[in-house]
Amino acid sequence: MSAPLLWGVLSTANIGRWAVNPAIQASKNGELVAVASRDGERAAAFAVEHGIPRHHSSYEALIADPDVDALYIPLPNSMHREWTIRALEAGKHVLCEKPLAMDAAECEEMADAADAAGRILMEAFMYRFHPRTERALALLAEGVVGELRVVRSAFTFKLTRPDNIRLDPDLGGGALMDVGCYCVNASRTLVGAEPVEVSARARWTPRGVDDELAGILTFDDDVTAHFDCALTMERAEFYEAAGTDGHLRVESAFLPGTDDVVIEEHRGRDGVAEHPIAGADEYRLMVEHFAEAVAGRETLRYTAREAAANMRTISALYRSARNGGRPEKVRP
Ligand SMILES: NC(=O)c1ccc[n+]([C@@H]2O[C@H](COP(=O)([O-])OP(=O)(O)OC[C@H]3O[C@@H](n4cnc5c(N)ncnc54)[C@H](OP(=O)(O)O)[C@@H]3O)[C@@H](O)[C@H]2O)c1
Repeated sequence: MSAPLLWGVLSTANIGRWAVNPAIQASKNGELVAVASRDGERAAAFAVEHGIPRHHSSYEALIADPDVDALYIPLPNSMHREWTIRALEAGKHVLCEKPLAMDAAECEEMADAADAAGRILMEAFMYRFHPRTERALALLAEGVVGELRVVRSAFTFKLTRPDNIRLDPDLGGGALMDVGCYCVNASRTLVGAEPVEVSARARWTPRGVDDELAGILTFDDDVTAHFDCALTMERAEFYEAAGTDGHLRVESAFLPGTDDVVIEEHRGRDGVAEHPIAGADEYRLMVEHFAEAVAGRETLRYTAREAAANMRTISALYRSARNGGRPEKVRP
């Protein structure tokens, strides 16, 4: 048995608390050894509550901890760039929350920092590690829907707390940044290409954050993806990949939990076939892959340059939404 990857988590964020930290603790090749918070008492209480051996009262202290190999960074979006680069420069590998940064330029800068440090950097889009996502991609590659023409998707939920980071423009809030980024990522992944042009309409809060946004992505060959995302609507999350012979439908597409799931294959008058997939913890599969990539036993599946491509599309969608839906080219 080789040594486990020693992880630290930067902040006491909710997503760490309920999903990623337990996944690291359950992983076959990693250990969660330290947590940091801006508030030392909060870090100490969090460490006790979650069985984490060490705690630090500043992010700097965790980054300087010599007995930590990798950092999981679930900070507000506007802080991803700074703390990822600081961690990489200190020699840590970084798994950073989605969206990786505020725009493509920041992602590229972070990718350069990872290259310069010889460390691994990955964006924590966990749904990509669920076997169902891989099966959906395989079914499309086999041609079960015929020629792929449209991807439809949505991710909405109702945010009830007005002080949430998602409503703060200075922290990188917004429906597209928070949940629409999954739809953009899934659309690009399912089509297997980058969109060339996009358009979007949004509803803006008084502070200037989109709390609802609907977007259209146009790919070469007139393949289209359309999606909606919101912080104001009852929960919905799905994608459909539709082609000339039928469509695949995936419910609870991004947060399926750990129960068994299915992919529905709709074939018009011929009915619906179900492809069953055994339940899995997509967060655990993600952190295990990351640790294998650090150990050099697996090739990193999703690079920070890929995250930059997602952000290029997101920025174009925002430009369009701010211009009343005017079509915008996705800048290379
Ligand atoms: N992959 C997923 O399934 C998933 C799900 C939810 C969220 N996320 C992503 O994870 C990140 C965190 O989201 P979250 O919902 O977990 O956030 P959260 O609960 O609000 O946690 C953010 C943490 O950042 C720290 N922080 C530092 N400066 C802050 C500031 N000015 N305001 C607020 N917090 C600050 C705080 O920790 P300390 O006070 O301890 O320092 C806070 O606990 C985001 O990038 C989000 O997009 C991913």
